[in-house]
Amino acid sequence: MKKILAVVLALMLVFSLGCTAFAAGVPNAEKPVIWFNRQPSNSQTGELDMDALTWNENTYYVGFDAIQGAVLQGQMIVDYLQAQGAEIDRNGDGIIGYVLCIGDVGHNDSIARTRGARLALGTAVPDSAQGKTEVGDINDVDPTPIGTNLDGSASSVKDGAITIGGQEFVVRELASQEMKNNSGATWDAPTAGNAINTWSAAFGDQIDVVVSNNDGMGMAIFNAWSKEIGVPTFGYDANSDAVAAIADGYCGTISQNADVQAYLTLRTLRNALDGIDIMTGISIPDAAGNVLSEDLYFYDEATRCFYALNGAVTAANYEAFLDATAPNPAFSNQLSEEDAAVKNVWLDIFNSTDNFLNATYLPQLQNYDKVLNLNVEYVKGDGQTEGNIIDRLANPDAYEGFCINMVKTDNAASYMAKLS
Ligand code: BGC
Ligand code: CA
Repeated sequence: MKKILAVVLALMLVFSLGCTAFAAGVPNAEKPVIWFNRQPSNSQTGELDMDALTWNENTYYVGFDAIQGAVLQGQMIVDYLQAQGAEIDRNGDGIIGYVLCIGDVGHNDSIARTRGARLALGTAVPDSAQGKTEVGDINDVDPTPIGTNLDGSASSVKDGAITIGGQEFVVRELASQEMKNNSGATWDAPTAGNAINTWSAAFGDQIDVVVSNNDGMGMAIFNAWSKEIGVPTFGYDANSDAVAAIADGYCGTISQNADVQAYLTLRTLRNALDGIDIMTGISIPDAAGNVLSEDLYFYDEATRCFYALNGAVTAANYEAFLDATAPNPAFSNQLSEEDAAVKNVWLDIFNSTDNFLNATYLPQLQNYDKVLNLNVEYVKGDGQTEGNIIDRLANPDAYEGFCINMVKTDNAASYMAKLS
């Protein structure tokens, strides 16, 4: 009788384990890992780090289409300029001068946006570091910051041309700089605020347009300088404060659909934990009715990367984007705990002061962690050192899955070492 009971108990255990693909005792190296926002890649060449992307069977990257968004940002700026009159040339020197804030010279998203702006504005030159001799497409553009270039002699850009109000103008990148602070934090908004002070003091009336790789830096400049004198300023991310500023003259931004990315970050993890089709609740509606429409994202199976698509946000449509933290009703239906039992997850944000990640992405994650029954421990790094984050993953055994936002895109190996 005792034996039978033991067998029954053992069977019950096996059955219950079978229901959850990831029960206690799973080695950390086999637990799902979702890289997000900073794509594992070589920060010099942009080449994807396939060791990190295929770390185990349940590893994915979630980001957005950096090239499509960068082209869109460039187009948005040119469309705006072409709709203005000759007075856009503030000092009347026949040159449309712009300054460019660069986020992180080793970050694919930042590189793409620098390239996209230069390509659209006609200031792009071939990227000699890649051995390019012609600009065939956006990937061929030199993304190097130039410092200052008042006389148009910099070698990483050239003067472009644009017709505004029937008149031909030269387009010149007057200055560009990576906005990195003294401690090494990139995409640094205060650094951009300082840069515009220096630039405007030295050649302010030559600046006709401000272009920024993101809204954090763009808004720092808008608030410090361009709002008051009405210099068109463009950013990226569609953070709520930037969208609201469109009413006050901020010219435009790009939404990288943080709702879609936050959902995908946690959804892929959820599906991996449940051992179900990775596209559940993504391309395949789940039992609660969650599904993403095809125009919002795409998946590249070969590299295990999900990409959200981008949309331009300007004076024409900004009202619909005012709350960047609102959950999307198409994929906010609560999962039942029967189908999806609560799981413990560890997730880091690489920089506790990054505007986009903290003001937009994190609130979106917090919308969807509830929907997906994930109990997420959120950890914020200092934006400078990987160790600061990794040291705080003291006990990986306590979590069933990990979502990782690296400081530097080259550093995936240090996280994998921690989980080995
Ligand atoms: C965002 C930036 C942000 C960066 C952080 C980018 O996708 O556009 O605003 O600073 O991610 O990695
Ligand atoms: Ca001018």
